[in-house]
Amino acid sequence: MLKGKTIVLGVSGGIAAYKAVELLRLLVKGGAEVHVVMTKGATEFVTPLTFQTLSGNPVHTELFNLITEQEIGHISLADRADLFIIAPATANVIGKIAGGIADDLLTTTVMATKAPVLLAPAMNVNMYENPLYRENEEKLRRHGYLFAEPVSGFLACGWEGKGKMQEPALVMEAAVAALTVQDLAGVTVMVTAGPTREEVDPVRFVSNHSSGKMGYALARAAWRRGAKVVLVSGPTALPPPFGVKFVAVESAREMRDRVLESSGECDVIIKAAAVADYRPRERAGDKLKKVGDEMVVTLVKNPDILRELGAAKRPGQLLVGFAAETVDLEKNATVKLREKNLDMIVANDVSAPGAGFGVDTNIVRLLYRDGTKEELPLLAKEEVASAILDRIVALRAGSD
Ligand code: CTP
Repeated sequence: MLKGKTIVLGVSGGIAAYKAVELLRLLVKGGAEVHVVMTKGATEFVTPLTFQTLSGNPVHTELFNLITEQEIGHISLADRADLFIIAPATANVIGKIAGGIADDLLTTTVMATKAPVLLAPAMNVNMYENPLYRENEEKLRRHGYLFAEPVSGFLACGWEGKGKMQEPALVMEAAVAALTVQDLAGVTVMVTAGPTREEVDPVRFVSNHSSGKMGYALARAAWRRGAKVVLVSGPTALPPPFGVKFVAVESAREMRDRVLESSGECDVIIKAAAVADYRPRERAGDKLKKVGDEMVVTLVKNPDILRELGAAKRPGQLLVGFAAETVDLEKNATVKLREKNLDMIVANDVSAPGAGFGVDTNIVRLLYRDGTKEELPLLAKEEVASAILDRIVALRAGSD
């Protein structure tokens, strides 16, 4: 995700400095080259050796040393950064940056950089609410500085309220977004994902093997590219991706209602969900008892959500469907593309090794309204998601 990216991680002096260790680990795991700059205060909380060991690079703490020594100087660090993160960012550091003060290595380097700067504030709730702090944050936002908003909870100082540094995994998400081209900024994308469950009785249901991985990867990738994302999901074992509006549903009918509620506001709708085509005609109020050697459950047809969306599609709206097939992939997918009035359909042979339900990879063919098609190789679902979004961006540009 961050391969080839150079990140300067500034750590300022707050108890949340320990969270910067975890953030560093995630950044390195994501493939980034990370250089850590610590304020003097930060070194009181966590030793530079910890950051040095995990980053594999010397930690920079003193402006003077850096200028005299032959290693990377602060200007060079500032120039090399693709992204500058300060986590935790204390009220003091944020105040200094907002005031144009550069009196130590961290503030000097951040002032000299042209890279985007992402701040993860951490402070006492009263400081966070202080009008002077608010003005500083507001000013920095106006100048394009990015913020990973702190969260509410028990603060180390004993107070309860907003001011806890955002979780490292979520700062990492914000960092990835900051390094991603925002080609879906201003676009509202709805993604449906996962299976639906059609209840037979209070303990049993009819469903399918969908894990939700493909849809969640699409929602995450669209958010990173700047889209406002609504994810309508059937039951899965996955945590909702950061930043998306998450709508949890169970049955196909519930999914239909929730999708139609906001589909009108969406510029792009991607229906990755494996919707159950049928549901039991009746749901028994009590658990069904075991009687006889055979049992018959009568199923009735569920609404076809995608077909309804296709019929109601407004000009400029892009509708993308999925076709899960085990035979006649292209033929079946083409029929769905046409009959459901789609702009593109992602066809996958769910019986092929490395494709379909549950696995982390997929092999898909993309079919378009104008009859063109392309075949993608075996890719991680994240890569498939990014390829699908590339095509969506291109289709939107073509229809302008
Ligand atoms: N879909 C839907 N509502 C349904 C069934 C399917 O919105 N009741 C959507 C899926 O989310 C997917 C597309 O339609 O984007 C195709 O789903 P698929 O299960 O492959 O096809 P079906 O249209 O259900 O046809 P069949 O099951 O006969 O292959």
